[in-house]
Amino acid sequence: MKTVTGLMAAMLALGVSATTVKADAVPDAPKFDAQGKVTMVGVGDILEYKALPSYNEPDFVKALEKDGKLPALKDRLPKEPMVYKTGNMKDGIGVYGDVMRHVIGGRPDGWNYSAGQSQGWGGIDIGLSECLTRTGPLFQVKAEELQPLPNLAKSWDWSKDGMELTMHLIEGAKWSDGVPFSADDVMFYWEKNVLDTNVHPLNGANPGTFGEGTTLEKVDANTIKWSFKTAFPTQVLYAMAYGTFCPGPAHILAPQHPANSKNTYDEYKNAFPPTYSNMPTMGAWVEVDYKPDNIIVLRRNPYYWKVDEKGNQLPYLNEMQYRLSTWADRDVQTIAGSGDFSNLEQPENFVESLKKSADPAAPARLEFGQRTIGYALEFNYSANGWGDTDANSVAVHNLNRDLNFRKAVTSMLDRQRLGESLVKGPFTAIYPGGLFPGTSFYDKASTVYYPFNVDAAKADLAATGLKDTDGDGIVNFPKDVNGGKNVEITVLGNADYQSDKSLVDGVVAMGEKVGLRVIPKLLSGKDHDAARDAGKYDWEVLRQSSEMVTAVQQTDHLAPIGPNTTDFHKAGADGKVDLMDFEQKLVDIVNKFIGAKDSKDRVALMKEFQKISTENVYKAGLTVYPGALMINKRFANVAPGAPIFMYNWAEDNIIRERVFVPKDKQSKNELFPDTLPGKPGSAPGEGLVK
Ligand code: GLA
Ligand code: CA
Repeated sequence: MKTVTGLMAAMLALGVSATTVKADAVPDAPKFDAQGKVTMVGVGDILEYKALPSYNEPDFVKALEKDGKLPALKDRLPKEPMVYKTGNMKDGIGVYGDVMRHVIGGRPDGWNYSAGQSQGWGGIDIGLSECLTRTGPLFQVKAEELQPLPNLAKSWDWSKDGMELTMHLIEGAKWSDGVPFSADDVMFYWEKNVLDTNVHPLNGANPGTFGEGTTLEKVDANTIKWSFKTAFPTQVLYAMAYGTFCPGPAHILAPQHPANSKNTYDEYKNAFPPTYSNMPTMGAWVEVDYKPDNIIVLRRNPYYWKVDEKGNQLPYLNEMQYRLSTWADRDVQTIAGSGDFSNLEQPENFVESLKKSADPAAPARLEFGQRTIGYALEFNYSANGWGDTDANSVAVHNLNRDLNFRKAVTSMLDRQRLGESLVKGPFTAIYPGGLFPGTSFYDKASTVYYPFNVDAAKADLAATGLKDTDGDGIVNFPKDVNGGKNVEITVLGNADYQSDKSLVDGVVAMGEKVGLRVIPKLLSGKDHDAARDAGKYDWEVLRQSSEMVTAVQQTDHLAPIGPNTTDFHKAGADGKVDLMDFEQKLVDIVNKFIGAKDSKDRVALMKEFQKISTENVYKAGLTVYPGALMINKRFANVAPGAPIFMYNWAEDNIIRERVFVPKDKQSKNELFPDTLPGKPGSAPGEGLVK
């Protein structure tokens, strides 16, 4: 098959000419002031690890302990628990009790996070999993001290030459079922879930995530050692946070892994369905009840390894509820006070929410942050058999790989209008692609922007070799490509979010104006995720994740440094990603960035990334806007100015294990009062300790 690019050259030679799109400066975003005031601190102001003279826990847990239903508190805590400093807690030492009622649009696939199962998002997995390091709360850490917080790894030392990193794990900590946590859990995650490429952990961790050629070994029960191919790749500490290095319970998972059982990889992944309750965690809460399309309930983990300075074992909140509803309902319920927490991220709800929360009697407070929510149009770049392989899909994927075509697409997009279709006012701003405007690695001068221009878009389509040969208003493939048929492009979108649907509609309408038939493929939940994972789309409208905001978090999503790291371009059956030339450059930049020591180098590398990715329209950016955190006013110690999204989502950023409700404001909403999680694998709602 003659390639489209080849055809283009031929047509240009024939003198097909028109004015194609020209790059321009990105227009300045409308002014919008974030409301939350953040006091910047050092890591040591937030936490430390040390033994305290005495410890305390809720009265009902003391009673259970007295009845012999669980070991003494001091035997459940590690030698040196993590201690949160009172000075960094807005309302100080808390009291026990109450529940945080979340509402989510997702549904759980099951509890095997290590093998890629989603728990339904909305911060469920964030509350259950703990990771070697932690990044969510970094929004309040001073630039000079910026590095991930210690977490399961309580400290680390670099070797003199910077080629090795020894990490000291918390010592004597236990999983929520009382089984000791150790380096074996870490090694099981690494060897059998990350290195074993038949397993795909939920957020796509693979060996390259931690630097090419990196190895990990166990030194002793509480010590692990990383070896790198470059000196001092301090950046990898970010990859050890949520969601790429949060080990699961090896004592539960390993027996089901194909290496130790007759299970297939699929059976391993699905061995812990949503009805398997009390999956052991290192998190502050443990899942104890699940009712399909109704609710998931988490109860406090009696082995949790974090305390306040008075020795009170955390969390303060006894319960977390997750109502299984819709994402839009999360906003509605939080405003009404029947839910407690929402990331207000769908601009369609901004005006109404602002109005309602302006009432002093409103149950929830609302605080806008920076513009860190954004959408891009992603192209399926696979010409290697990943995704759909019918003639039309193959032909469209080849178009996607043609820069003239991508220029046509980016200049057909009226981003101003797309933003306004979500919400009018100063919220949305034009997003050309690349790192988000206004974030720390963003560089305007390195950003290439192709402005909205229908005529230029049409000229670029012609330059790609696409012409409406049968006069029905839709451009056709050249005669020798896909039978010269009309060009039809599927655009995948998440039907669970109104904003995603609105943006898909906008893209479809704007395609029509230039003669492209774009066909929406709106899917919900699991079906949507499955289509994404399998590459079953030509284009995708997608809310961007933290790599576009911080560059240091989920860095491996920026370009396909591994077979599976970049969701829109994965390896084919041969295990290789068919990289385009400029994409190979992006891969090299990202690999250097992951291995870089100096922040100066990192800044320079990201400028280069920005230039090459926007010049080549690697993704066509759509719009960016601020989100607002809505949280019921009864909660205390919510970290001030916590953004709904930066290094991680607000469910991590606000540090929920320190959040509490003053006694006089406590609700009676706990569904399983005075109980603790029970035996792993119990039926939902059963087997609780009481
Ligand atoms: C979903 C929601 C976000 C956030 C995350 C947390 O994606 O849309 O607001 O709650 O889950 O994982
Ligand atoms: Ca046609």
